[in-house]
Order: sequence, then structure tokens, then C-alpha cells
Amino acid sequence: MSSGNHKRKYFTPPIDNDTPLPSLGEQRISKDRFSSGDFMAREWTHLWRKVWNVGPRVEELCQPGDFVIHTLGKESFLFSMADDKQIHGFYNVCQHRGNQLVSDRLCGSEKFFKCPFHAWSYNLDGSLKGIPGAEHFPQFRDGIPKDTLGLEPIEIDFWGGFIWFRLESDNTSLLSFLGDIPEHLAPYRIEDMRLLEYKTFLWDSNWKVACDAFNESYHFRGLHPQMLKWADEKARIELLGDHSRMINKYGTTSAPFSGGEEIYPELREWMLYNGMNPDDYEGAPEDVWKAKTAFTRSIQDQGDITAPYADMTDEQLTDVYHYFIFPGFAMNVFPEGINGFRYRPHESDPEKMYYDLIMLAHYPKGTKIPCERKFFEEKVKYDEIADTPMSYIITDVLQQDADNVSINQKGLKSDGFRGMYLGDQELRLRHFHNCLDRYLNGE
Ligand code: FES
Ligand SMILES: [Fe+2]
Repeated sequence: MSSGNHKRKYFTPPIDNDTPLPSLGEQRISKDRFSSGDFMAREWTHLWRKVWNVGPRVEELCQPGDFVIHTLGKESFLFSMADDKQIHGFYNVCQHRGNQLVSDRLCGSEKFFKCPFHAWSYNLDGSLKGIPGAEHFPQFRDGIPKDTLGLEPIEIDFWGGFIWFRLESDNTSLLSFLGDIPEHLAPYRIEDMRLLEYKTFLWDSNWKVACDAFNESYHFRGLHPQMLKWADEKARIELLGDHSRMINKYGTTSAPFSGGEEIYPELREWMLYNGMNPDDYEGAPEDVWKAKTAFTRSIQDQGDITAPYADMTDEQLTDVYHYFIFPGFAMNVFPEGINGFRYRPHESDPEKMYYDLIMLAHYPKGTKIPCERKFFEEKVKYDEIADTPMSYIITDVLQQDADNVSINQKGLKSDGFRGMYLGDQELRLRHFHNCLDRYLNGE
């Protein structure tokens, strides 16, 4: 059996508790950014058009002809696989009169794309295929200028099994934009994971309200008090360029539930969720994570295990590594898979957003995972919509977070609110808003 501490090619560094957090100031964060249309317009121009954005999963495009639609703010994008198996990204718009090219589906497979308005058609690589009644266009008297009438391409690249895209190019490659993240997450082999759940929700809040809500664990005590019975509310925090991460221990307790002997039902459920038998456990509630580590090490070399446990430190087997990739993608990273949270701005309303719950998992090669994208406009009950079995300790937390964003949005724009007042456990929020301001100021 491997110990988990052998020398690895890739290594996810721990966060050193003794390194003091940087000081980013103490001032309030202004509230207009959460509801102003003008602020939203500036974000589009100076932020979303400039950064590398995370798009669909590569695995959604398997065969020539497969396509996926992905939206960001006011734009819709079409990603397709051409006959040579190259993946392309385009603005989803016909070059005749600006009709949206694909508007009735989020994904599918086509031999080519035909605009539903006047039937101009485009090949899978975005080049113009045909124009009905071309003789009626005086512009074509010397032939159709195909090179000026193809779909408008966008720059794409790949990391972690995701397609990334950028609307305005500069010299920053995707890898340098991601900074330390690819090296930190290499042991997890996210590119080998497959979709388990892909659900989009229309939420009544600015995208940054959700982003902020998921980037600190200070809210466990108020919003998720049940988590104190199976997780450590205090996070270890680290800023990584514009990105950041925090690590919380699971399989333990937080005050006021520490120091006792009772194995709370939620802690038992956490053990069951992780394949352990709680009846075998004899230690203290705060030490359950140690048993989880021992349990995982005991099974890691079994033939049917696909999670890369042997490439993980002991900490990675029990703690939740929460990575935030600026400006709108967060992941709870586990050896078995990730729970991804993507925050997308709405097309027109600064007080609405799209929240994508993207769950990935390691599966034996060749396993067919029935994952279907779903979109929910109305409030939902997570335990009713999950396609895969999810423990109540997970769905309860997701539900509490989802239900709170609109409540936060309502209060944020009140005349009685003076601006956000952030503590050290919310340092990643301050960092995020500082980075956002830097983009908006064109720095
Ligand atoms: S707008 Fe697409 S064919 Fe006319
Ligand atoms: Fe939460």
C-alpha cells in the first residue's frame, strides 16, 4: 500500500498556517456594483471581454458535428467539432442580418448550421457554406467573398477538460492567466473527470453576490449551522495572483460542537457518504477525518478505484480544497471529483445571474454517464432535482446557499446599507473586488 507521502510528480501544496495573511485594507466595499446597470456595462467591456472565460466541457464535443451553446452576458457562443475533429468557437450569429444561428437548443449534432431566417448556411468550421438566391446580391457579381462572410471566431484554448474562450486577445496565454492553478490541481486529473450533473439556475442576484457567498466559510455558522457538526468553519486562506483558495477540514467539528463525545447524525452521514461504516468508529467526533484517511489509504490500490488517492496528501483525502478562478468560477475539489460553481452575468439585468452547478467525477474508462444539461428558471428543491444520489448533507447546504442569494441582493441595494464590511475570513472577497476594480480601471 502506498503511504500517500511518497515523492510525486505533481503536488498540491498545503497552506502554511503560520504565514500571515496579506493586509488588503479595511475600507467598506461599495454597494452600487451589485445593482448598477452602468457598472454592469463596464464589467462587460473591461472584464468579461478581457479575461479567459471557462466554457463547455471538452467531452461534450465527441464527434464531428457535435455542438454546444454557451452564453455569457449579452452574447451567445457556438462551440462545434469540425470534420477534422478540431474544436472551434464562434459568436452564435448569422452574418446576413444578425439572426441568432442556433436558438432552439443548447447542444446537439448537425452536419452544418443553417440559419432559420433566410437559410444561409455555415460549415462546422464556421466557413460560409451556401447562400440561397445569391444572384439577388449585387455584391456577389464577382463571386461570393466567402472569407468575409464566415462566422465570427473567438479565441479558444483548453485546460482541465474545459474549453476556455477569450473575446479580446492580448499576449496572456491561458496557462499564464491561470497562474499556479494548473500545477496545484494537476494531481486531481480534472481533464479525466466526466460530467455527473450540469444544471443552470436563474438566480435573483448580481453574479458577484453568489461569487462572494461561496468564497468564504464565515457564513457556515449563520447559514449552515448544521455544518459545524461535520466540518471546520475556519478556513486556511491563500491568494494566488488574481485567483485564490481556501481549505476547510471535513470529518470534524467546529465550536460549539467540539470537545464532546457525541457522533452527530450529520457526522455519521458524512462517514456513510464516504463509504465508511460509522458503527466501526470509536474515536472523538473531531478526529473522524483520521479514520477517513486510514480508510481511503486501505482501499486506494484496489483495482476498481479510479480516484487518484495515491497522488494525494493525507489532507487532500479529507479536507475540501476550494479554488476560485477569477472572475467567475469556483471549485470544491476532491480526489473523487469536483463540484464546480460558475457565476455568469445576466444578458441585461444586473440583479439577475446564471449559476451553473457542474459536478464532475472520475469514472472507469468507457463508462457511459447519462448527464443532461438542465435549466431551471424557478426556485427548486435540490433534493428533488438531483439526477445522481446526493446526500442530504450536501443538498441542504446547496439549498441554503441558493435560497439566500436573493435575500442578500434585496438588502444590498437598500438605502440603509452602508457598504460591505469584511473580516479576515472574507479576505478572498476583498481581493476579488480589488482585482475587479483593477480591470475596470484598465490597469
Ligand atoms: S439572418 Fe441568417 S440567413 Fe438571414
Ligand atoms: Fe454556503
